[in-house]
Amino acid sequence: MKSRKRAPRREAAEEGGRLRAGAVLEVRVERILPGGVGLAHAEGQTLFVALAAPGDLARVRVESVRGRAAFASIVEVLEPSDARAEPPCPYFGRCGGCDFQQLTYEAQLAAKAEIIRDCLRRVAHAEPPAEIEVVPSPEVWRYRSRARWQHDAVRRHLGYYERGSHRVCDVADCPVAAPPVAGRLARLRAMMSEGSLPQAAEFEAVAGDEGVALDPPVEPEDEREQLRRIGGETYRFDAGCFFQINHTLLGPLVEEGLRGTTEGGDTALDLYGGVGLFTLPLARRFRRVVAVEGNPASARYARRNLSDATLTNARVETSAVGDWLARHAAGLGRADFVLLDPPRAGAEPEAIRGIIGLKPAHISYVSCDPATLARDLRLLLDAGYHIHSLRAFDMFPQTHHVETVVHLFDS
Ligand SMILES: C[S@@+](CC[C@H](N)C(=O)[O-])C[C@H]1O[C@@H](n2cnc3c(N)ncnc32)[C@H](O)[C@@H]1O
Repeated sequence: MKSRKRAPRREAAEEGGRLRAGAVLEVRVERILPGGVGLAHAEGQTLFVALAAPGDLARVRVESVRGRAAFASIVEVLEPSDARAEPPCPYFGRCGGCDFQQLTYEAQLAAKAEIIRDCLRRVAHAEPPAEIEVVPSPEVWRYRSRARWQHDAVRRHLGYYERGSHRVCDVADCPVAAPPVAGRLARLRAMMSEGSLPQAAEFEAVAGDEGVALDPPVEPEDEREQLRRIGGETYRFDAGCFFQINHTLLGPLVEEGLRGTTEGGDTALDLYGGVGLFTLPLARRFRRVVAVEGNPASARYARRNLSDATLTNARVETSAVGDWLARHAAGLGRADFVLLDPPRAGAEPEAIRGIIGLKPAHISYVSCDPATLARDLRLLLDAGYHIHSLRAFDMFPQTHHVETVVHLFDS
């Protein structure tokens, strides 16, 4: 039988009932919050504990205090939670890349469902679905097909930034990097040891089906672009363009983003379209498709990907989505289907206003940040839409990030 959990011991860690930076105290971590930190309480104050597991009893040090919130790090885990796992990466805790390796994979998925639920309740003021499915990643290590390595040429360090700093954490191997990406890191490090690595401050690597593209290239044979085949479509891109980092879940993500659409639709918009991940399959189902993408290089690849697929019924506009909708929505008439897939910051307010103005019967919101998703959902719910379905995908194992797809219909 499991022993009863002991209550955190209070020590002289507080000053006049207020936590101060440097204070060390025991806390019980209650749950994981949006942002990936653990929630704890002490002396009527809220503590955000980095790299925690829900249920941990831990001795923590307060690193900083803002208002009634204190930010803390774990000094010692006194009673580990059942959700706790041994992080396999020797850089975990120092490297800024991962923040969930301390959790079992099951606990990571549960924490992500909880983060989405929390954002829907507190930010969107919407009742979450009874069950939130987070589709697991087929690979939970060696899945990342993209990496940005920082280079400190003076100290001869190559890796990711350290947590909360711009110091380079020198990383010999990264266990979430896909094998070809890890191989490229090893090659760059060998060049660094030989003194032949160029002086660039950072290197971006992106793996595709046929190798790795590197920016900037360091050897004559380095490729500048790559391609991925997903769901029968071929997408070309380079390291400077956005392309989803976990290709093992990309087929199911595209299917979910387009769920409910069928061949024979009239007009669809693909907002924040990147190199056309959703634009190509949309062009096979709708008579007319307009994609809007802010990055000129990505927009060029989207046009090329459409042209290579001989899809002539879709056009790509290079513009900020909010600006484009403000200028062109009136001329577009009504759209049947709008898919938006903005960056972490979410959609600009003009983008949401523009979408509402188009009165689409069906909106598919693909998001990599539950907090900004919930903020934008509130506006769509206020405009008369209702949430038809919500499904999440674990595109980013070992981190708190999660991809969510929400389908909304007008009421
Ligand atoms: C999360 S990515 C999604 C791309 C694409 N849908 C995909 O899944 O591959 C967001 C895209 O929005 C673009 N972007 C960022 N801010 C933008 C804005 N304000 N207007 C238009 N595009 C923007 C980025 O360049 C990026 O390609």
